[in-house]
Amino acid sequence: MSNKYSTARMQELDAKHHLHPFSNHKSLRAAGARVIVGGEGAHFIDSEGKRVLDGMSGLWTTNIGYGREELAKAAYDQMLELPYYNTFFQTTHPRVVELSEKLSEIAPAGIKQIFYGSSGSESNDTAVRMIRHYWVIKGEPKRRVIISRRNAYHGSTITAASMGGMSLMHSQLYPAYEGFRHVMEPYWYGNSEQGETPEEFGLRAAQAVEDEIRAVGPENVAAFVGEPVMGAGGLKIAPSTYWPAIQKIVDKYGILLLHDEVITGFGRTGKWFAADYYGTKPDLVTFAKAATSGYIPLSGLLVGDRVANAFAEHDDEFYHGYTYAGHPVACAVALKNIEIMQRERLVEKVNEVTGPAMARMLGKFSDHPLVGEVRSIGMLGAIELVADKRTRRRFNDPGRVGTMCRNHFSREGFVMRAIGDTMVTAPPLIFTEEHFAEAEGIIAKVLDLTLNDVAGELAA
Ligand SMILES: Cc1ncc(COP(=O)(O)O)c(C=O)c1O
Repeated sequence: MSNKYSTARMQELDAKHHLHPFSNHKSLRAAGARVIVGGEGAHFIDSEGKRVLDGMSGLWTTNIGYGREELAKAAYDQMLELPYYNTFFQTTHPRVVELSEKLSEIAPAGIKQIFYGSSGSESNDTAVRMIRHYWVIKGEPKRRVIISRRNAYHGSTITAASMGGMSLMHSQLYPAYEGFRHVMEPYWYGNSEQGETPEEFGLRAAQAVEDEIRAVGPENVAAFVGEPVMGAGGLKIAPSTYWPAIQKIVDKYGILLLHDEVITGFGRTGKWFAADYYGTKPDLVTFAKAATSGYIPLSGLLVGDRVANAFAEHDDEFYHGYTYAGHPVACAVALKNIEIMQRERLVEKVNEVTGPAMARMLGKFSDHPLVGEVRSIGMLGAIELVADKRTRRRFNDPGRVGTMCRNHFSREGFVMRAIGDTMVTAPPLIFTEEHFAEAEGIIAKVLDLTLNDVAGELAA
């Protein structure tokens, strides 16, 4: 790709006129933004012409990789046929009908209806609205509390951030909405006690949910929400005992189960939705990101029979919806994206090929002096950096070493995201042996460079 953009000029204009999400605006201005100008397959290209292997699929989005002409063509054709029409006021259009049918085929069992939005945050807002309205329809209006986990990420609108468990985000909500409670997350490496097995810990983490239900009063609890695998909170993979125990608890108290599958949806774990990986039966599932491989915004809430039927039988309007809900162009792109994923067997390959390759690759680093734990599930993986492998002691000033490591990755040409001192990867599902080999070489080099930076801080 020819380099038609001047980095300096882009950075200058960007600093003048563009306010970035999740950024320290002062330091961003001082450093200048990275300018990304193109993408091909699993690589993106910056304004200096450097090709970078994208270990984060953009932002957990580009599952089928960059530069897919078929998606561009689907959008182009749809823009000519019907670029926009709304789905308010008892109106529909062919693409939203077709996509809804397709999603009902790949959704977890018992889910046949979809309510659309344009972002994960929006669809989580929809979920909260629907959950609370459901209980009003059912004649139990006191059921309003939604139990979530600490360090959960559900988005950045006030509702989604309140439901999420990020304390730094809560600190800027002035104040967070009431009605959300946060319990311990199922993070064995960080939260278990000496000698506690993952299975024992998984049960204890699930028990924290039941304890909270009892503390709040079951008659006040509307739902439990959880990402099947916690993403932005540090790629935390629940022990095998956790989700079956949670399912029993929500069944016991009759509360709704909301899965946020904004990251895990569309094949990441080797199933279309991670509910089918864990065998849970969510009443509601939010999705976004990889539904279109990030080529165009589209999100949604999969609504199971229990809730959908209650709404269908209730003769009153649900006062909620978005102008772009079921946008025809976004639906056309999502349909094509799913068609490509099915044609190329990308979800099956996560089970058979790419997921195992990821586990093997990361496993090679578990003996590295900086590495406390490697963990992965399907095409989601993490390397946790610690000062003392034996005691799991962290580095002072969490995030400092992760950022150093992340910066080495940027220079060496592979993206791993630093979440605190945990390095996270979620590559496109199209990763090949060559991509894994390229990633492995860079990870080996970067871990050694980082080790060099912090050698003096490591346990003897
Ligand atoms: C699990 C989860 N839920 C919700 C969101 C919010 O999605 P969006 O940024 O599209 O609003 C994200 C974004 O990363 C996410 O990871």
